[in-house]
Amino acid sequence: MITPRRLLIASFLLVLPLLDAATTIVRGPYLQSATPTSMVVRWRTDNTEGSVVSYGLERNQLTSSAKAEGVTAEHIVPLTGLKPNTKYYYTIGPAAVPPANAEKKSAGEDAAGKNPVNSFTTPPPVGPAKPTRIWVLGDPGTKNAVQTAVRDVYYKFTGNRATDLWLLLGDNAYPDGTDADYQKAIFEMYPKTLATSPVWSTLGNHDGKSANSLTQSGVYYDIFTLPSQAQAGGVMSGTEAYYSFDYANIHFVCLDSHDSDRTDTGPMMQWLKADLAATQRDWIIAFFHHPTYTKGTHDSDKDSDSQGRMNDMRAIFLPVLEQGGVDLILTGHSHVYERSWLMDGHYGKSQTFDAKQHVKQSVSGRADGDGVYRKPRARTPHFGDINVVTGSAGHASAKPVPLNHPAFYLSLNEAGSSVVDVDGLKLDFIFLNDKGEKRDWFTIVKE
Ligand SMILES: [Fe+2]
Repeated sequence: MITPRRLLIASFLLVLPLLDAATTIVRGPYLQSATPTSMVVRWRTDNTEGSVVSYGLERNQLTSSAKAEGVTAEHIVPLTGLKPNTKYYYTIGPAAVPPANAEKKSAGEDAAGKNPVNSFTTPPPVGPAKPTRIWVLGDPGTKNAVQTAVRDVYYKFTGNRATDLWLLLGDNAYPDGTDADYQKAIFEMYPKTLATSPVWSTLGNHDGKSANSLTQSGVYYDIFTLPSQAQAGGVMSGTEAYYSFDYANIHFVCLDSHDSDRTDTGPMMQWLKADLAATQRDWIIAFFHHPTYTKGTHDSDKDSDSQGRMNDMRAIFLPVLEQGGVDLILTGHSHVYERSWLMDGHYGKSQTFDAKQHVKQSVSGRADGDGVYRKPRARTPHFGDINVVTGSAGHASAKPVPLNHPAFYLSLNEAGSSVVDVDGLKLDFIFLNDKGEKRDWFTIVKE
């Protein structure tokens, strides 16, 4: 006899496969560890299923596919054998997409749980110059209207100009860097950029509340796939906590100012020295969370502030970076914008700053002002670098802050993000505030 109860069970069993088909993508896709010939595509689904990326050179011809074995909700698919500096279209799902279906999908006729066609451009061959746009976000993860405004100002500014790569300077997801914090502050905030531009991150103190650099575990290390094996250039660090990579004629160095050994004989320092000695790129851009100098929401003169991490980065790591010929140092942590002169050799507290000794070129760096900064093309130790604190992509300080560190040409208590454009031997830097105003800019030229 068919009782109502049996009928209910039977209909539930019939519906089960449909429920399974309704698996949805809840995170991503996002792009990691980009190299001229490879890309790691990641995403998350609400149920476990297969992991396949279908890709190709035309939107409606996704003729190649790559997959990860097994079923999972956390999908990580490396694409290999790609052509450098080439635009690829791709879509993600549990199985390869017949090429003929891709066009339909892109037109918004997605079946339940399916995802539209996105695209990315692989990095160019390492060495030769290529105009490169880099978006820099320090301390973005407030999840609030300021973070949204800073994002939208940049989207309007860059328009159809692709973002070749973007940097997260730590404190990416407040308050505790949990998976739920990252979901709101990163994955729901920047879906468009995550799907089209590779993102590279450094660990902040708030991310460090849910992660451990020594054991390479926790949310931060679960979310990011970073090149511990020198997959993207540079010298192998053996850890995702600090690493380097190349893009065209730029060498990027990521340090962990929060949770790794910062002594002058530690593994991070040994690796940094080897990495700087080995690189042949025209430009070196270093990034980490704790600033070398600041008088914003933190004070780099106070030994107790941030348990001495700012002191360590300035007194221990900055001399090595400057010996290695670093051009630009990008940091956050202090929720302000502060930008130095072209400077060298200032490793003490602010009262030991001596403009005559430490400022190498006392101009604004502006072509439309008193002149750009000039450096020789050949890497020259201690020729001068610009230190930037750009830690206000999620909020500026609510209270007045001193903003009086003498190393800085300009200090602003304003929310915003920074844009670096490298074109051959010219580097243009811009700070855009949350109202869309270009509040600082400078240029370094190598000749
Ligand atoms: Fe911080």
